[in-house]
Formats: sequence, structure tokens, C-alpha cells
Amino acid sequence: MKTVFSGIQPSGTLTLGNYLGAMKHFVDMQDDYHCYFCIVDQHAITVPQDRLKLRENIRSLAALYLAVGIDPTKSTLFIQSEVPAHAQLGWIMQCVAYIGELERMTQFKDKSAGKEAVSASLLTYPPLMAADILLYNTDIVPVGEDQKQHLELTRDLAERFNHKYNDIFTIPEVKIPKIGARIMSLNDPSKKMSKSNPNPKSYISMLDDEKVIVKKIKSAVTDSDGEIRFDREAKPAISNLLTIFSLCSGTSIVELEERYQGKGYGDFKSDLADVVVETLRPIQQRYKELFESDELDFILDKGAEQANRTAIRTLEKAERAMGLNRKKRS
Ligand code: AQP
Repeated sequence: MKTVFSGIQPSGTLTLGNYLGAMKHFVDMQDDYHCYFCIVDQHAITVPQDRLKLRENIRSLAALYLAVGIDPTKSTLFIQSEVPAHAQLGWIMQCVAYIGELERMTQFKDKSAGKEAVSASLLTYPPLMAADILLYNTDIVPVGEDQKQHLELTRDLAERFNHKYNDIFTIPEVKIPKIGARIMSLNDPSKKMSKSNPNPKSYISMLDDEKVIVKKIKSAVTDSDGEIRFDREAKPAISNLLTIFSLCSGTSIVELEERYQGKGYGDFKSDLADVVVETLRPIQQRYKELFESDELDFILDKGAEQANRTAIRTLEKAERAMGLNRKKRS
């Protein structure tokens, strides 16, 4: 069985973008792949976080993974900071990476733009992400489109390491969904929907209640021609809403265009809100049961144990290849 790894940052409550672009696909992969799903809390601290809020977000993300259908008997679910090999291999990957290639990362440019004090970790987090993936001999990394550049860097770093030291790392492939890889903000369709956007009207959180969802969709920007038609260039806002509708309902975009021909944005938005509410309702119900449960801690403890076992083996191989690690090969 091939191995899948993917991580999500607990940097806020997950959005519909995180769900449709990433999480939804994780669930479908569990039967066919050996899966590792990670709560990448060390990535979240590259920008300032409130201590209590972060703790809550970590737990909330774990509960959401399970609520959408991640099955701990099939997949390993764990918290990054509970597997020390991530930070250890992360350092090694920093030693393999060049500053120039890290400065070219679009997310670094976006997140550091206009800020006076930018943490060094914002620059060096792609090598940590490379370590996350490489520790598990990962074949496939399912992510949204925004992570494609980081994945290319991961491949470059792994190839560079293998070439310079020894053939230790599997070179992973990125898997980006055909539709939904980039769900856009509701109030600015030129930007992606992001959980850390300070304006909550820009995203639908997976835990928003029904009234909030309806309100946010009603106030989502559209355009002035009143036509419900998919055209990413000319009609980015409606195209984004059509994508969300299609993914949540399982109806193709062509069918939706036919259904809403000659109808106004009001009817379309009201039906879209219903579809989103129905998609999130069962997830939210299961989430509530899990959030405070002991079951959640049990699953995370077990996940950390399983992840540690594999991660340490790969870390030790990489260390030995570089001349570190005094222990004899076991
Ligand atoms: N808008 C999106 N559309 C489709 N996929 C998306 N992803 C994120 N936003 C969208 C995918 O979700 C997974 C987890 O992402 P992450 O939380 O690790 O970091 P991110 O990509 O930076 O997501 P956010 O929501 O924008 O977080 P913040 O605001 O903290 O930076 C990834 O697979 C990502 O591609």
C-alpha cells in the first residue's frame, strides 16, 4: 500500500476551503492508502498565537478530522509537536535548504508583507513541512493548490539530500483536486478563503451555525450582470459559489448552470446556503460529541505512538547518512 501524508495548521477554525480542498479527500483515501494525518501545531506558531486559543484550536482540529470521517483504525491521526522527530529532521532540512529558495515562497511573501517583525520560522517553515512529509516515506500528499510550491520544494530538498548523502527519502507526489483546489474568499474572490483572515465574512467556518452561514452567503459578493454562469476570469465570485455548490451537493457545475438559467442570485444563494448547512450539519453534530471526550485523547495518544515509531526510524537513517547518531544500526 502506498503512503499518504497531509497536515493542517490549527491556526483557527477550519473553513469550507480547508474541507473541500483537503479534508474531504483525506476521507476517500483511507481505504486505499496507508494514511498519516497530522495537526501541524509547530507550523501554527510561526505567527503569534494566543496560548489558550491555540490549545483549543488543536483539540478542535483533532475532533474535526474525526467528525468528517477520519477513522483511527485505518489512519494515524497525531499532533506534530508530540513527535519530536519532526523538529529534528526539520533542522536537518534547513541545513539542506538555501535562503534564496525559501525567500521565493509565495506564502512567505504574503505572510511577511508589510510586517515590521517577521519571525525566522516564517521563512524556514517549508523545510519543516518537508520533514513532516519525508519522515513517513510518503508517496502522495493530498493538498490544496496553495501548497503546490511547498511540495515542489520538498521534492527538491529530498532529491538534494539523497544525492549528497544517501538514498534515504522517498520522493513524494502532490495530489491536487481537479475542482475545489482553491476555494476563494466570499468578499474578495481574488484571494483564497483562509481561516486566519481577520474578517469572518470572508470565510465559512466548519463550525458556523445555520444563521451565520445563511447571512455570510447572502452577503457574499457577486457581480452586476445577474447571470449564473461559470467563468473564472470574467465572473470569479459566481464561479467560486458554483464550485462550492457543486462540491457540497455532488451536482455538476453544468447542471447547476442549467438549473439556475434565468433565475436571480437571490434564489441561487438561498439554495446554496441550504446545501452548505446540510453538508456541515452531521459533521458539527459528531464534532460536539468528540470535542470533550476521553476517546479523542486516547486516539491522539495512540496516533503519536504509531507516528513516533516510523518517524524515529527515518530520522536515524538520515542522521547516520550525514555522520550524526552514535547508535549502532538496529
Ligand atoms: N481556500 C482553500 N481552498 C482549497 N484548499 C485550501 N486549503 C487551505 N485553504 C484552501 C488546504 O487546506 C489544507 C490545510 O491548510 P493549512 O491550514 O495547513 O494552511 P493554509 O493552506 O495556509 O490554510 P489557511 O486556511 O489559509 O490557513 P492560514 O490562514 O492559517 O494560513 C492544505 O492542504 C491547503 O492546501
